[in-house]
Amino acid sequence: SVKGFIFDLDGVITDTAEYHFEAWQNLAKNYDITIDREFNEQLKGISRMDSLDRILNHGGRETDFTEAQKEEMASEKNGEYVKLIEKMTPEHILPGVLDFLNELKEHNYLLGLASASKNGPVILERLNLSGYFDTIVDPSLLAKGKPDPEIFLTAAHQLGVKPEECVGIEDASAGIEAINKAKMFSVGVGDKESMKEADYRLDSTEGLVLDVILNKVK
Ligand code: BG6
Ligand code: MG
Repeated sequence: SVKGFIFDLDGVITDTAEYHFEAWQNLAKNYDITIDREFNEQLKGISRMDSLDRILNHGGRETDFTEAQKEEMASEKNGEYVKLIEKMTPEHILPGVLDFLNELKEHNYLLGLASASKNGPVILERLNLSGYFDTIVDPSLLAKGKPDPEIFLTAAHQLGVKPEECVGIEDASAGIEAINKAKMFSVGVGDKESMKEADYRLDSTEGLVLDVILNKVK
């Protein structure tokens, strides 16, 4: 039976996927690289440095910069992103998420956060949600990012439950792949195309309802 729910953060709990997109778009523009929403799908769930590599690749500029320059570019992007998240309040929690978290706590489920973002703990604080999570995986300690299952397996381990006893919730196709490889039940929030591998797909977070999800797991 299900004992734990493991959440992605950006694009699931709050709409920071938009802030990441905005900050990357602005950085890319400085180097004459254009990124659109379709390309942005490939950046969801991917670490900061890997995202930069994909963007430079996309613009055909992958060999134009040194490691030190790339570090500088990534920190410039993060600087803009951090400014955007400073303004966040609990009003930025996506619709249905708070009710769902309360429902999960009432029923004593264990909650974990499996976000690739180093800004995850700060965002949870700004949303007043830190208290809901029994564990947060530190992405800087992982060998591999999504779509590798490591982050979800680590979350289950930290919660003290088996992966098969967990439901994972994601908005990125790399994240759904990671959940599936971890042998968890995957819930995807997003369009049919990017969520095609999800065990259960929702158009929006408003569909996050405990009974409905548990019925799909069976
Ligand atoms: C993921 C986002 O949650 O975190 C990615 O989906 C982002 O877009 C990644 O690149 C890393 O985030 P950060 O905050 O550490 O740069
Ligand atoms: Mg996400």
